[in-house]
This record gives sequence, C-alpha cells and structure tokens, in this order.
Amino acid sequence: MTNVSKPHVCPWWLGYMLISPVRRFLENPEQILGPYVREGMTVLEIGPGMGYYSLPLARMVGRNGRVICVDVQEKMLQSLRRRASKAGLLDRITTVVASQDSLHLEAYQSSVDFVFVFAVVHEVPDQGRLFEEAHRAMKPEGLLLFSEPKGHVKPQEFKKTVDLAKSEGFGVTKDVDIWRYYSVLLRRTV
Ligand SMILES: C[S@@+](CC[C@H](N)C(=O)[O-])C[C@H]1O[C@@H](n2cnc3c(N)ncnc32)[C@H](O)[C@@H]1O
Repeated sequence: MTNVSKPHVCPWWLGYMLISPVRRFLENPEQILGPYVREGMTVLEIGPGMGYYSLPLARMVGRNGRVICVDVQEKMLQSLRRRASKAGLLDRITTVVASQDSLHLEAYQSSVDFVFVFAVVHEVPDQGRLFEEAHRAMKPEGLLLFSEPKGHVKPQEFKKTVDLAKSEGFGVTKDVDIWRYYSVLLRRTV
C-alpha cells in the first residue's frame, strides 16, 4: 500500500542549521540512540542530511560496525563525508544517493540491524515504498526508530504513516518519548 504525494525536500543549505552544536541541548544523539545501537552493528540512516546523527552513530557502532547513510541530495552527503573525514570516522560510513523513487539499497538486503528515520518521511513522495525498501534491507526482527517533527506533521498524518509501515511488515514495539517529535519504535515482523 502506498501514499504517494508531491515531494517537498529540505533545501540543502538548511542542512547547516541542522548540524549546529546548539541542537545537542535539545536533542542528544547518544541518549536517543543509545538504547538501540551496539558496537559492531550495521545501521541504516535514511535522510541523514549533513550527518547530525550519523557521526554519533559511527562512534556507537565502533570499528567493526557500519553506518549506511542514504539521502536524495548529494550536497548533504558531501558535507556529511567531509565532517566524517575530519572526525576520523569516514571508514565506518557508506553514503548512497537515493532517487525520488528508490533508496537504492539493493546491495544491503537482509543485512541491517537497526534503521533510523528522523524528520524525513514527510518529505518523501512514496512513503510506503520507503518502508518496503527499509524492510527488505533489514534483518528479521530488526528495529526501526521513526520520528517526525510535531511542527511539520499532524498527529493524524503520523498515525497514517505508522499504519502504512504496518502494512509493509512492521509492528509497533512502543511509542518513544523524544521532545518535539512523534516517535515510534517499529520491529520487522514478517
Ligand atoms: C529535515 S532533513 C533531516 C536531516 C536529518 N535526519 C536530521 O535530523 O538532521 C530531511 C533530509 O531527508 C532527505 N530526503 C528527503 N527526501 C528523501 C528521499 N526520498 N530519500 C532519502 N532522503 C530524502 C533530505 O535531503 C534531507 O537531508
């Protein structure tokens, strides 16, 4: 089942605001992701922008882990790679350029332990397809943390998207408390 709409993608230059150090006071990546991410894991981050969460994720998965960052804007990924390189984390990160109709994750089927989709899905034209592709990339029983910003997304829209994820083979494990975001932890069930 799909929910196809017109895309409205965050302009690449806004990516610089999203990596502001001030954001840490409101959203602490280690606190948000700590319960789910372990050393050695393969993590998929969909729509990472310039990598506010990707660099902490790369630290959390350690030397033997991997973070696959897939974004529709190459400019976002360029900046993410530059920042990862400066931080000595680039060897743990793979970047993939998505198109509006595919995440291009063919190389990662059934290999991902944890998926992180933060403030992205409301920008995606075919949300059902995003969950379908994430599902295919995940290991059975893998977890996906899905969050949407309360300012941009109405509660009924978030619920509709969660229902869409359920129709693509996810179950809701629990609601997650992240300030200013609707958040839910999904599990690949089939
Ligand atoms: C609002 S930004 C959030 C960035 C990051 N998750 C954060 O919280 O800092 C949304 C990001 O999703 C990306 N995006 C939008 N549509 C996408 C799609 N169809 N596939 C992959 N990424 C997409 C945008 O390019 C942008 O980098």
